[in-house]
Amino acid sequence: MARVTFISVLLLTLVSLGLAMVRTPNYAADIKRAQQLQGSSKNKRNSVPAGYVAAPYYPTPPGGWVSNWTAAYAKAQKVVANMTLAEKVNLTTGVGEDMGRCVGNTGSALRFGIPNLCLQDSALGVADTDNVTAFPAGITVGATWSKALAYARGLALGAEARGKGVNIQLGPVVGPMGRKPRGGRNWEGFGADPVLQAWGGAETVKGIQANGVIATIKHFIGNEQEAYRMDIIPHGLMQAISSNIDDRTLHELYSWPFAEAIRAGVGAVMMSYNDVNGSASSQNSMMINGILKDEFGFQGIVMCDWLAQISGVGSALAGLDMAMPGDGDIPFFGLAYWAYELSTSVLNGTVPLSRLNDMVTRIVATISRVPLVLTSTHSKTLRRGMLTRDYQWYQLGQDQDYPPPNFSANTANPTGLCYPAAVFSPTCVTNEYVNVQADHFKVARNISREAITLLKNINNTLPLSTSAVLKIFGSDAENNPAGPNACSERACDTGVLGMGWGTGTANYPYLDAPIDAIKRKAANVTYYSSDSFPSGLTATASDIAIVFVNSDSGENQDTVEGNDGDRSASGLYTWHGGDALVEAAAAKYATVIVVIHTVGPILVENWIDLPSVKAVVFAHLPGQEAGDSLTDILFGDYSPSGHLPYSIPVAESDYPSSVSLVGFEFFQVQDTFSEGLYIDYRYLNKHSIAPRFAFGHGLSYTTFSRTSATITAVTPLSSTPPTRASTGSTPVYSTAIPPASEVAWPAGFNAISRYLYPYLDDPQSISSSGTFNYPTGYQTTPQPDPPAGGDQGGNPALWDVMFTLSVNVTNTGKFAGKDVVMVFVQYPSDNPWDTPIIQLRAFEKTDTLAAGEGEVVTLQITRKDLSIWDVVSQNWIIPVSSTAPFLFWIGDSSANLTLACESLSGKCSDGRALPVVAPKSG
Ligand code: NOJ
Repeated sequence: MARVTFISVLLLTLVSLGLAMVRTPNYAADIKRAQQLQGSSKNKRNSVPAGYVAAPYYPTPPGGWVSNWTAAYAKAQKVVANMTLAEKVNLTTGVGEDMGRCVGNTGSALRFGIPNLCLQDSALGVADTDNVTAFPAGITVGATWSKALAYARGLALGAEARGKGVNIQLGPVVGPMGRKPRGGRNWEGFGADPVLQAWGGAETVKGIQANGVIATIKHFIGNEQEAYRMDIIPHGLMQAISSNIDDRTLHELYSWPFAEAIRAGVGAVMMSYNDVNGSASSQNSMMINGILKDEFGFQGIVMCDWLAQISGVGSALAGLDMAMPGDGDIPFFGLAYWAYELSTSVLNGTVPLSRLNDMVTRIVATISRVPLVLTSTHSKTLRRGMLTRDYQWYQLGQDQDYPPPNFSANTANPTGLCYPAAVFSPTCVTNEYVNVQADHFKVARNISREAITLLKNINNTLPLSTSAVLKIFGSDAENNPAGPNACSERACDTGVLGMGWGTGTANYPYLDAPIDAIKRKAANVTYYSSDSFPSGLTATASDIAIVFVNSDSGENQDTVEGNDGDRSASGLYTWHGGDALVEAAAAKYATVIVVIHTVGPILVENWIDLPSVKAVVFAHLPGQEAGDSLTDILFGDYSPSGHLPYSIPVAESDYPSSVSLVGFEFFQVQDTFSEGLYIDYRYLNKHSIAPRFAFGHGLSYTTFSRTSATITAVTPLSSTPPTRASTGSTPVYSTAIPPASEVAWPAGFNAISRYLYPYLDDPQSISSSGTFNYPTGYQTTPQPDPPAGGDQGGNPALWDVMFTLSVNVTNTGKFAGKDVVMVFVQYPSDNPWDTPIIQLRAFEKTDTLAAGEGEVVTLQITRKDLSIWDVVSQNWIIPVSSTAPFLFWIGDSSANLTLACESLSGKCSDGRALPVVAPKSG
């Protein structure tokens, strides 16, 4: 949820001032309300187009059966078995929007050393605070095609999060995937391909979690457009957009990177705002219970996106483990779907105690305990018995020396309100200004540099000489005159674009603007700080014009220059008349270099073929290191090695209309993924539509040869994977409903108004009489083991290596540089399933190769890489053929694949005709 503005906080506070100085809940009314809201009316959603089904999937598979979580679960079980109902509920529910230092804050269980846990954005840095690094965005990491850099960034991100006391970092993002080129948040993820996204996500998770910080892979699933993403309150008025995704597409595209992140051990998953197939993601039993927890064997915490919870019992039964930020429909009123309501629904038997125990065991197993220093803040709101020092080790090891938060997401001041949303709040230390940047600028700069993608370079225009006469145009070259953080959550496009807008941002400690870096490097530089081409310029033949343009997007809570998150107004064109600026410069100067900072693909047809447009550089979203990383490339200190993480089409209409933004419909907007597997290059290839630049395209200052490819069969092909092992045992607890006294207000408790507590005024009055209208299909008998499951991420046999490929890469040019080797698979010609012609399945980036130097690159192809999701058997099937081979195409983009290896003959050759259309350039 958007950070709510001060004014709205104030208004809500004033409106509700008279309602409750200290909240005294009327639990009879609360129960009635809960039953109304949690019952059938809230679970009934609008109908979706035929064929798209959110089938019910109950009960929630409990966690604890995956072998490398066994120790954590065993220790968590000992703790959870001794918790009171209040302590358990506390851990599941946020304490309310703006009720703690972080964007999300759980309740605590201090008797066990578990403090309020701090959940904090973002995927590119610690958001809403100071003294952090503003790393390049996910899309920039994707453009490096470097697994090592993805990991290095994750490691640095996690170190900063830990240094600030963040327990759960709200990133990385692998959904959206970039299905819609205009989608607002594509830039937070790694590119328009499941395999590229998967590597970006999984390596980032590993890096973050190496610090003991829990990573959150988000948003599950189908968050492909920003407009209409949330329910409009009251919910009957308008439901969140429904992403209607068929089962095969869900498996082969959108859930692929989530499965890989789960396999990498990610500790948390955030559900998306949108519905999936007509059922809200926060309570979509098929997505949470079925896909995440059963098939993908996810053992960690499933949380909802901010204020996306729309029912209490429904979401609990569908598998949600943590409600964020805790509030019900409307924040700041002290009302919740869980907290005291969850206590009620467990006491009255509606939510099985086993489900609550599973939520809490997942949380405790994942987070571990933080050695806590009690502050006055803590002791006022959280005192519950004695703090023990009996630390134990859990999955992420946060029991050892983990710092509490030392910043506030609500204010930059050193002191401020402890609970900004409370009617009356004491004052606290809010910021200790801990500097966590270390030398992370280096990894940030490495990524920004390695992402830079050279699309066009006629006559070796680049690299430039430092003595060239340079005329620089466009406000995207300079800093926002009001400062790089002048706009909250970067919701403006003023100056160089280092990141999109929304909660996926961080404050810049500085923003090294390109013009400053160019001036540091080159002797003869004139800058025209305008997006209009100046009149009256005279150009000489040797002048070189560099034109900076950009294209921005972000999250739906802010509209920037008419764009409501998605690029709804600008389309895929550059902002601020960027195209006209390029054209004007091209009319004047013989040599024009275009530098583009962008959230995603843009259309370049207006100027790409102009004779004086000699070089085009995509610098993506470089974060704080926009300057030196660019000049490192422009002036030839490094050869570019970035490759496009998406295709650049000739026209937006080259894509199917189903990937356009969808507009208003009464009650609920339907977004039906009718193009199925055919997004980006998959669609263009199928319809023989030439892109302008192919997916993966990227030039270098040097040249590489790729020769002597080999293929080795490792595991014999079988159409179905070996049968998975059965699900193992999970913690067993007493099923007796706990004494109501466990959720009575503790004696003398000084409640903070509107803070969300697990306590009830008269818990003894709760009885199990009365009926609850359970969701359709609700059952308590466990589902049979899904055939595709068996471990974190799915059946472990899916990662069996089927083939190993190798190729010799040699730097045949004059510059040192790095090559990227990509492998695209083509299924056997007799494959009965309709399948994209080629699909990326593996890639590796070489080390820096000096001129003449070579490297043997090896790549692995797994069972999953060769499999198709069979919706009937609910399993991954390899279309094994004795006559038609799999072809493995090797090259450096989806259109430059010069080598091919065959599965059956075991032969590799070059010069084979590629079965896809050639791009217009590159
Ligand atoms: C909403 C965004 O969708 C999510 O990505 C973010 O983590 C939360 N708000 C918290 O700010």
